[in-house]
Amino acid sequence: MAFLLFFSFLLSGFISSSELVCAQLHDQATLSAINKELAVPGWGANNSDYCTWPGIICGLNRSMVEKLDLSHLELRGNITLLSELKGLKWLDLSYNSFHGSIPSALGNLSELEFLDLSLNKFGGSIPPELGSLKNLRSLNLSNNLLIGEIPAELQGLEKLQDFQLSSNRLNGSIPIWVGNLTHLKIFTAYENDLGGKIPDNLGSASELHLLNLHSNQLDGPIPKSIFALGKLEILILTQNKLTGGLPEEIGNCSGLSSVRIGNNNLIGSLPRSVGNISSLTYFEADNNNLSDEVVSEFAKCSNLTLLNLASNGFTGKIPPEFGQLLNLQELILSGNNLFGDIPESILECKNLNKLDLSNNRINGSIPNDICNMSRLQYLVLGQNSIRGEIPHQIGNCVKLLELELGRNYLTGTIPPEIGHIKNLQIALNLSYNHLHGALPPELGKLDKLVSLDVSNNQLSGNIPSQLKGLLSLIDVDFSNNLFTGPIPTFVPFQKSPNSSFMGNKGLCGEPLNSLCGNSGGPDHQSYHHRVSYRIILAVIGSGLAVFISVTVVVLLFMMREKQERAAKAADPEDDGANSHPTIVAGNVFVENLRQAIDLDAVVKATLKDSNKLNSGTFSSIYKAVMPSGLVLTVKRLKSMDRTIIHHQNKMIRELERLSKLCHDNLERPIGFVIYEDVALLLHHYLPNGTLYQLLHESTKQPEYEPNWPTRLSIAIGVAEGLAFLHHVAIIHLDISSGNVLLDANFRPLVGEIEISKLLDPSRGTASISAVAGSFGYIPPEYAYTMQVTAPGNVYSYGVVLLEMLTTRLPVDDEFGEGADLVKWVQSAPTRGETPEQILDSRLSTVSFGWRREMLAALKVALLCTDSTPAKRPKMKKVVEMLQEIKQN
Ligand SMILES: *[C@@H]1O[C@H](CO)[C@@H](O)[C@H](O)[C@H]1NC(C)=O
Ligand SMILES: *[C@@H]1O[C@H](CO)[C@@H](O)[C@H](O)[C@H]1NC(C)=O
Ligand SMILES: *[C@@H]1O[C@H](CO)[C@@H](O)[C@H](O)[C@H]1NC(C)=O
Ligand SMILES: *[C@@H]1O[C@H](CO)[C@@H](O)[C@H](O)[C@H]1NC(C)=O
Ligand SMILES: *[C@@H]1O[C@H](CO)[C@@H](O)[C@H](O)[C@H]1NC(C)=O
Ligand SMILES: *[C@@H]1O[C@H](CO)[C@@H](O)[C@H](O)[C@H]1NC(C)=O
Ligand SMILES: *[C@@H]1O[C@H](CO)[C@@H](O)[C@H](O)[C@H]1NC(C)=O
Ligand SMILES: *[C@@H]1O[C@H](CO)[C@@H](O)[C@H](O)[C@H]1NC(C)=O
Ligand SMILES: *[C@@H]1O[C@H](CO)[C@@H](O)[C@H](O)[C@H]1NC(C)=O
Repeated sequence: MAFLLFFSFLLSGFISSSELVCAQLHDQATLSAINKELAVPGWGANNSDYCTWPGIICGLNRSMVEKLDLSHLELRGNITLLSELKGLKWLDLSYNSFHGSIPSALGNLSELEFLDLSLNKFGGSIPPELGSLKNLRSLNLSNNLLIGEIPAELQGLEKLQDFQLSSNRLNGSIPIWVGNLTHLKIFTAYENDLGGKIPDNLGSASELHLLNLHSNQLDGPIPKSIFALGKLEILILTQNKLTGGLPEEIGNCSGLSSVRIGNNNLIGSLPRSVGNISSLTYFEADNNNLSDEVVSEFAKCSNLTLLNLASNGFTGKIPPEFGQLLNLQELILSGNNLFGDIPESILECKNLNKLDLSNNRINGSIPNDICNMSRLQYLVLGQNSIRGEIPHQIGNCVKLLELELGRNYLTGTIPPEIGHIKNLQIALNLSYNHLHGALPPELGKLDKLVSLDVSNNQLSGNIPSQLKGLLSLIDVDFSNNLFTGPIPTFVPFQKSPNSSFMGNKGLCGEPLNSLCGNSGGPDHQSYHHRVSYRIILAVIGSGLAVFISVTVVVLLFMMREKQERAAKAADPEDDGANSHPTIVAGNVFVENLRQAIDLDAVVKATLKDSNKLNSGTFSSIYKAVMPSGLVLTVKRLKSMDRTIIHHQNKMIRELERLSKLCHDNLERPIGFVIYEDVALLLHHYLPNGTLYQLLHESTKQPEYEPNWPTRLSIAIGVAEGLAFLHHVAIIHLDISSGNVLLDANFRPLVGEIEISKLLDPSRGTASISAVAGSFGYIPPEYAYTMQVTAPGNVYSYGVVLLEMLTTRLPVDDEFGEGADLVKWVQSAPTRGETPEQILDSRLSTVSFGWRREMLAALKVALLCTDSTPAKRPKMKKVVEMLQEIKQN
């Protein structure tokens, strides 16, 4: 009351106090009622001055609420009462869980200038009453479940500047009056069901900056009007049924940076005026029926980063002028009728990362200096008429991830230098050429390569046993060549279909049905073991590989994700979080959590990069806040192996079984969602992160003091969790400090156990031939057994224990050439270092007690990491030894 009097006094000069009190009491009652309905966090409580409540801003005379921001509060309930706040100018209800129809009474808010209802679940149609909001400048209804047409009444919104309707289920067509809005700058209606033509006056009355209508059913031409005032910056019309050509007037928009018109039915030639679009960075017009030449005028757009004209009817040569595009990163011209050679000038594009000219009629040869483009990661030239030899210099393209030269007329031999391209992972395809000679043994150095195809050439000689260094190989094809001799004993070879080796008269051994004579020699097997053992040591030592790759799918997914992220970064309007994938299966195993978990919200959360917590070998982890307030971690499986899709029911049964596995130190799934080819696993959110973060990122959390007793308890907990897993005959596939999660009390929970169950290669549930876990934790015997075993788990656990004792990473350049943490610790005596010098001195110097315990634990870690699997203790024994240390 004192407060009211104070203000009445203050303002009585120009407002009658009774009027003020009356107005204030009016909003007071409304806000109390709103709070009763919505229970807004922080409202009410002690303070009767609602102008201080969170999210509320009152007008100058403090009489009425002018601005109300209730975004991101997971609110639901009836918002009709908001229409009583007559002074409201700014209302943001985005990111909540409101559902039902948008109340027509909101049309009473005659002062409203900004209305954001996006990212809710509003359904029904858009109320025509919103057309009475004469002062509205910004209307955002995107990301809801709205249906029906855009109501004609909205044409009353004459001041509208920003109009966003994307990601709903709106149908009908885009009304003509949108083109009459004289202030319109932003119009988005992507991901709806809108049909008909784009109004041919759109943009003629106002300075349109952004037009995004992708993923609708729009037909008819791209209207000239959108370029008329020359202010367009972003144009996205992908995935419609648009016809006609790209208007020449596009050249009037020099500030246009992003043009995406792919996946339509556009025809005709590209206008030469594109050369005037000086800001152009991103031009994507793939999958249309565009024809004639690829215009050389693109070369004038010096900022051009991506040019994608794939799958059209372009003919002629690749313009040599493109060599001027020093910022070009991706040039994708596949699936056209281009001919002529690869212009040498292209090699000037120093930033080129992807060159895809596949499926054209390109002839000539591969330029010797192709690797002058030192950033090249994708060189895709398959299905052309390229002649000549593969240049030896190809080995200089050290960043290549994919090399596709199949279906050309290449001659000569395979240059051994290809073995230098250590990053090659996605594919090496040389099939359907005229290559001859032997397979170079150097190919065996490509330890990340997942797919190798040399089929349909005239290659001869033995398949070199060195190819057993292809540790990540999954797909292989040697068919229809002149190979002879035994097929080397190597899991990926024997697991391949025999068609991968057919058409070679001289080959024998598994998987072919023809047995070999005794020609292999007595020492054959053990020789190979030694070789591949050395190779894996070299790999581990080289510090190049971070992960052993899992499947083609994993890699393709990762690559695609990376690209999409890059594309998104270049194009902030296309935020990707708007699609609504259809859930095909999903369940929450824990009865009393069913209410609190919303599977749609789970999916939505994983579509936003900002929710990503980290990435493991097999999955990415996201944080998902449920509308109920419950916080989950959601694991998105990266290695969505095709077989998992096909064995969905089996997978679901496994998950249910795992959810019943009761042990305090195991992170069990509480539910799952499957959509498209993605599987999401739900877990409780653990706020303390991972053991990895605790050990190696503690600078980021200064409140954390290294503390040996905590570490010892964690070590015991992890050991107990693993001992239990082994007891129920589950082998963990990826033990690492990054997979040990910590709950609020620093109790450790071993994560990623599902993966072990779902991807267990020995059970044939997945086509994975090389699952080994994270780099630095891989037991040495893996090199020749290719099997993860219980003693292998003990080794990996030993590495985690060493990490806790030394606070060092499992691999670090500091350890010297070829060494990892285990070798570094084992070789301490030869360096003249005492065990004390290995331990983290911040811990070992605190007290004699701690030091004694740490030295004892170091002994256990050394036992666990013994190079002979049989000498390592069982997990159960490890638990006992550590508990004994703790008790003494
Ligand atoms: C209400 O007052 C109590 C005690 O003064 C304080 O602890 C609490 O934070 C206040 N609540 C709000 C919402 O201001
Ligand atoms: C409060 O001030 C606004 C202008 O800021 C004015 O339009 C409104 O009439 C005033 N309210 C009352 C109750 O006088
Ligand atoms: C919301 O509340 C208003 C009164 O404030 C009432 O008329 C309306 O029926 C309610 N709507 C729903 C969906 O309950
Ligand atoms: C508010 O809107 C409702 C529904 O549109 C209408 O019936 C009512 O008369 C309006 N009230 C005022 C005060 O304008
Ligand atoms: C809704 O659109 C307005 C206007 O473009 C924008 O300012 C606002 O950030 C958008 N809301 C969300 C949640 O993106
Ligand atoms: C638009 O959607 C509504 C509701 O879903 C439906 O009744 C109507 O027939 C649709 N109109 C058109 C033109 O498809
Ligand atoms: C749009 O404006 C034009 C001329 O400015 C006018 O002829 C037409 O009737 C208007 N259309 C609508 C739907 O308001
Ligand atoms: C707009 O583009 C057309 C066609 O290219 C051209 O004739 C016209 O001069 C341009 N207008 C302006 C203002 O640049
Ligand atoms: C090219 O990009 C740079 C950096 O984004 C920018 O400063 C420059 O203005 C752009 N050039 C043109 C012609 O738009």
